[in-house]
Amino acid sequence: MGTRKRMIVAITGASGVNYGIKFLEVLKNLGLETHLILSNAGKKIISIEGRLSVSEVEKLASYTYHEDDIGSALASGSFIVDSMVVVPCSMGTLSAIAHDFENNLITRAAGCVLKQGKKLVLVPRETPLSIIQLENMVKVAKSGAIILPAMPAFYPQPKTIKDLEDFICGKILDLLGIDHQLYKRWEGENKKI
Ligand SMILES: Cc1cc2nc3c(=O)[nH]c(=O)nc-3n(C[C@H](O)[C@H](O)[C@H](O)COP(=O)(O)O)c2cc1C
Repeated sequence: MGTRKRMIVAITGASGVNYGIKFLEVLKNLGLETHLILSNAGKKIISIEGRLSVSEVEKLASYTYHEDDIGSALASGSFIVDSMVVVPCSMGTLSAIAHDFENNLITRAAGCVLKQGKKLVLVPRETPLSIIQLENMVKVAKSGAIILPAMPAFYPQPKTIKDLEDFICGKILDLLGIDHQLYKRWEGENKKI
């Protein structure tokens, strides 16, 4: 696999699939090797609110998989990856990961990433949140996953939906240690830096 970063990206059936689409576009521009898993519900939400079609989204990744493709390399801990990002992450997928349910390729791959001690970033989109959902977030965070809610900030003065997408994708890249200029960082009131 060389020195190129290899990443698993999953898009599940939460609102906000355009965050996942934007993230794939950014990774493609960076030349990273991406393995995309779309859940069936993720495909449905892409057809409802996505700015690209499912086949256009699949073309953004180096490799694509269906959620039931459990025989693929990603289903094994022997598949070496740097990180996995689920963006957006539905409450259903969050729950399955929290309980290590491993009922499809997304939750199996997430289980492998966690057991191999690699970085797992989940971008949930739901509001309001039940106690069960909050507890599931605590559970996965205790297991090493990072919860990055799809909650864009407003200090960079966003003007467009693209600005909101860029902010969330930039925050994910920050966690993965990948340089970017997707959003304007807060430099302090007097801009001393
Ligand atoms: C239009 C629409 C929007 C939805 N938005 C959300 C959402 O924002 N968050 C969420 O957790 N589930 C949402 N759901 C429900 C999930 O799609 C559903 O629970 C699904 O089973 C999740 O499957 P998955 O985790 O395998 O992708 C939405 C469903 C529809 C049809």
